[in-house]
Amino acid sequence: MRLAVNIDHVATLRQARGGQEPDPIVAAHIAERSGAEGIVCHLREDRRHIQESDVRQLRQTIKTKLDLEMAASEEIIQIAVEVVPDLITLVPERREELTTEGGLDVRAHLPLITDVVRRCHKKNIHVSLFVDPIPNQVEATKASGSDKIEIHTGEYASAQSKDEQGHHLERIHQIARFAKRLGLGVNAGHGLNYDNLLPIVRIPIIDEISIGHAIITHAVFVGMERAVREMVELVKSH
Ligand code: PXP
Repeated sequence: MRLAVNIDHVATLRQARGGQEPDPIVAAHIAERSGAEGIVCHLREDRRHIQESDVRQLRQTIKTKLDLEMAASEEIIQIAVEVVPDLITLVPERREELTTEGGLDVRAHLPLITDVVRRCHKKNIHVSLFVDPIPNQVEATKASGSDKIEIHTGEYASAQSKDEQGHHLERIHQIARFAKRLGLGVNAGHGLNYDNLLPIVRIPIIDEISIGHAIITHAVFVGMERAVREMVELVKSH
């Protein structure tokens, strides 16, 4: 299992003052040196944190894999096919949300998504769809020609009791198995942190975990290097 580090919130801090620091590119390089096997950023339509120039610099300077999270909007698709990240992860996006609030409705947008997949595959960009752990969304992901799913772990992460957490964990496990049977790669992320990650790590068929907020907030106190190393240790602990 690999850890991919999402650096959006380094850019959030930078945008708070509109200057140059802290630089998310530097954060990405430290994350790689500290054991991250991928860098994730979300170029939102409102550009609230990551900017287009960040994506281009990341593409040119990181040594691991670049995963660009994005909405299936024409403006962002054109940037993606020009910059050529290793992977794009399609997410739903609403301007007023604080963060991505749920999985993509792949069934409802199948023609559009299938077209995005076709355009990305032409450029050798892999495509992952961020979905809730629901079988018919995974079937639709397969039908779209996408390469992977990213399982939305938000409900698991925000569960209020052990029972509820166990229920969501089981759904994640089942959907990971189902996706693998269909020949899809399996990533997972959203809301994962140092306390709730271990049960997810024990699902060994998950290929990659994507974590942002927990690492960047820990890094404020202990530094980026230690925050990433501690998370890598957890990811590799099974
Ligand atoms: N995966 C996806 C698709 C996301 O949208 C996000 C949030 O940007 C994450 C993973 C990371 O979530 P968190 O910041 O809660 O670790």
